[in-house]
Amino acid sequence: MTTVTEIAPDVYRISAYESNFKLQFNHFLVKDREPLLFHAGMKGMFPLVREALARIIDPATIRWIGFSHFESDECGSLNEWLQVAPLAQPLCTVVGALVNVTDFAIRAPRWILEEDVLDTGKYRFRLYATHHLPHSWDAGMLFEETNRTLFASDLFLHGGEVEPLVDTDVVGRARKAMSDFQSTQLLNSISYSSTTGRQMAKLAALEPRTLAIMHGSSFAGDGGEAIRNLASAMKEVLGKGQ
Ligand SMILES: [Fe+2]
Ligand SMILES: [Fe+2]
Repeated sequence: MTTVTEIAPDVYRISAYESNFKLQFNHFLVKDREPLLFHAGMKGMFPLVREALARIIDPATIRWIGFSHFESDECGSLNEWLQVAPLAQPLCTVVGALVNVTDFAIRAPRWILEEDVLDTGKYRFRLYATHHLPHSWDAGMLFEETNRTLFASDLFLHGGEVEPLVDTDVVGRARKAMSDFQSTQLLNSISYSSTTGRQMAKLAALEPRTLAIMHGSSFAGDGGEAIRNLASAMKEVLGKGQ
């Protein structure tokens, strides 16, 4: 069961709720001359997500398949998408391309540096390398400059079958999720290091208007403030002793 919601102009959130994890898995399609899918999603969810995406565009027309880092929910079904979309290319960070994707994917990836712009027609994307944020050294964050949408991957993760888009407090929800995970001592999914604060400040300076969040509700509003508040919460919950 998937739900499709347009969370910003031409940005569609395709959400599948996994009740075993009590977690939403969200995939974002940006409809443009060169359609871009951010988060290929897990292989097991591919038929569901493809069916939902087909309600918006013909899956064969996808041109770019981006993701933050190499994990099943980010790119497990990358090759399945590349098979249905003959012109599609993976879009990832340089580290992602060199370490994983060149070997894994059936088609060569396109990697871009943060000074590069990917123009898909109406929209312009930058991909910021954010090593180990939210986790993994190949991590990156995609930013669409025209409407100021940040594709935030696992940042702001929160559980539950929640609304597609909110303009209220996503930081409180994310803080609670981090605290709950921290208390298990097993599930510290967000890494915290000496570079986290600097990287979060850089993302906040983009002043996004929409945060496209992989797990949980997306957020519309002052994204810069939300990222700064999340950085404080991360320091408090995850950075104890640092
Ligand atoms: Fe992840
Ligand atoms: Fe994730």
